[in-house]
Amino acid sequence: MDQIEGVFNGSFELVENIKISPFSRAYTFSDSIYEVVPFYNSKAIAFDMHIKRLLRSSNELSIALDIEQASKEITQLISSCSSENGYVYYQVTRGQDIIRAHMYSKLMDIETFGYVLPFSFKTKTLKVMICEDIRWGRCDIKSTSLLGNVMQMNSAQTQDCDEVIMHKENILTEAGASNLFFVKNGTVCTPGLSNNILPGITRALLIKEIKKINIPLIEGNFDLTDISNASSAWLSSSTKGLAPITDIVNLENTLDTQDPIYLKCKEAFDYKFFS
Ligand code: PDD
Repeated sequence: MDQIEGVFNGSFELVENIKISPFSRAYTFSDSIYEVVPFYNSKAIAFDMHIKRLLRSSNELSIALDIEQASKEITQLISSCSSENGYVYYQVTRGQDIIRAHMYSKLMDIETFGYVLPFSFKTKTLKVMICEDIRWGRCDIKSTSLLGNVMQMNSAQTQDCDEVIMHKENILTEAGASNLFFVKNGTVCTPGLSNNILPGITRALLIKEIKKINIPLIEGNFDLTDISNASSAWLSSSTKGLAPITDIVNLENTLDTQDPIYLKCKEAFDYKFFS
């Protein structure tokens, strides 16, 4: 891979030159939060919403982030990218311990790290697997503690899948790295916000567009029977945009990637953000 532009604790440098202590709590405890901010034609998509969520995540973990500084660094990374389209990854860690300890010192300086990568937002179709949601109880925080997602997504990869759809005691939550939408009886359905799902920015943007074009939409509790009866389904995220699901390998149903309701949602979303 080409050299990657990054920023560590406010200093801009190539990622390969950044040095991190093994006592960084990102390394020992995953005591960190992050954002992925997409940009298209050199302009961030929903910048303020990403910044607001970054601030919320840091507040939830009592990490004292300088949000103005973080915003400036993300903006500068976008400007330094060799491509007009891409995304910034930005991580905020509680800081470095003197020696590993669960209870952190209040005097610690936070650690920030970001990088920018070119990315083409081409629509990809997805093959997915249904699995149990084995994650912790605060998935609304965009934490780097993602082992539940990592385990389930890699288990899906062994079945030749690109993603998972998770459920907690039969109630659908979200995907491994995206939110879930499906169409049932002509209505777009998506799991309602709770502590068990990330409040996706793409999810929020899409819901707004769907409401504008008057397609019926329900945010609520849905179960495996609901998705078995879906006519189409797709996942949403800052890097996937809207990605239609072709096949759910461990569920009996047929999904149509040309479903007119999905196509209308996709068209409205792409027109607003990728044109
Ligand atoms: N993932 N749910 C989970 C668990 C996610 O990791 C993501 C995003 C989303 C969608 O959120 P948004 O629309 O704000 O990108 C939902 C990012 C892209 C990632 O971890 O790379």
